[in-house]
Amino acid sequence: MPFYHKLGKIPPKRHTQFRKPDGSLYSEELFGTVGFDGMYSNIYHENRPTQVKEIKKQYHVAPKIARANNMESLKLKGFDVKPENDYLDSRKTVLTNSDCSIILAAPQQSLKNYFYKNTDADELLFIHKGSGKLRTFLGNLDFKYGDYLLVPRGVIYQIDFDTEDNRLLIVESRNPIYTPKRYRNWFGQLLEHSPFCERDIRKPQELETHNEKGEFLVKVKKQDDIFEMVYAKHPFDVVGYDGYNFPYALSIHDFEPITGRIHQPPPVHQTFETSAMVICSFVPRLFDYHPNSIPAPYNHSNIDSDEVLYYVDGDFMSRNDIKPGYITLHPAGIVHGPHPGAAERSIGKTETEELAVMVDTFKPLQVTEDGLKLSDGTYYQSWLEKE
Ligand SMILES: [Fe+2]
Repeated sequence: MPFYHKLGKIPPKRHTQFRKPDGSLYSEELFGTVGFDGMYSNIYHENRPTQVKEIKKQYHVAPKIARANNMESLKLKGFDVKPENDYLDSRKTVLTNSDCSIILAAPQQSLKNYFYKNTDADELLFIHKGSGKLRTFLGNLDFKYGDYLLVPRGVIYQIDFDTEDNRLLIVESRNPIYTPKRYRNWFGQLLEHSPFCERDIRKPQELETHNEKGEFLVKVKKQDDIFEMVYAKHPFDVVGYDGYNFPYALSIHDFEPITGRIHQPPPVHQTFETSAMVICSFVPRLFDYHPNSIPAPYNHSNIDSDEVLYYVDGDFMSRNDIKPGYITLHPAGIVHGPHPGAAERSIGKTETEELAVMVDTFKPLQVTEDGLKLSDGTYYQSWLEKE
């Protein structure tokens, strides 16, 4: 995150002696991104963070691809993904390319029997259903309906869920996920025209420090393999850190919509970006107020990006027959737009309650077997006018 955060105990000067009450040294770790060019934090551990005892298992978890090349607009019934006990087992990749994966998950149990670390990708967890606590070695974040949780690559985490009824949309990105550059000044501060600001971003405030030694299973994801690594010390043994690289939360309900006299283009909804995609939030807002405005969007060509919409709540005015948890994919190369009747229906409406997350990827998405299973098979014909 492009601002400074400090949690726990740190020495006054970096890379200097920082001693425990017994006189021994804490172990310092530079936790960086993009080589040594990106955001980083300096972390202080009770024990050396390098103590691998055993690599128990290695197995491949890349999704099976059903369609490498896809030109069909798809509607996926996301809530048809079956709930599963284990957090990692419950994650089903439905769409993917070499930059990112779009994952649906309905985990029934907390992730607490092992620790998880994704070294391939930043993870953006959107909480559609459920609440609880994201527990990380850099501090904890409480979450509830509507929260985005940004977990930078390499952050070791567990999750406590309050109940069994959880639905998550997860975007894995192999490029770092940032707030949009055009909303930041040259120091990184979010500007006045940004739809959210630093005050809306929740930073970890609670740090768990465990000093136990023994055997601690960390499932590490690298190149779509899971490595089951046993560490000799508790992964949450940090006494303090400071820097710019840490997990944070932002509620979609704190995104302030930008509206106008005529239809506003999708970039006004932008919330996050990478070098390979954008992530947008469609939130309840007043509609366009020109006397002749058409609040429904115009038809638009997806020439350069695949468009994924994840429907969260409310009535999505440009689509017929859309329910919470549905995903639509409008692939690059063809035109899409409001369904028949939607433009007329939108005229005169003054506001919308729609809530949705959009992911536009610059490279085409492949459809996985798990994704295609959720498809209704007829969505691409849904723009046909009735004879
Ligand atoms: Fe669109």
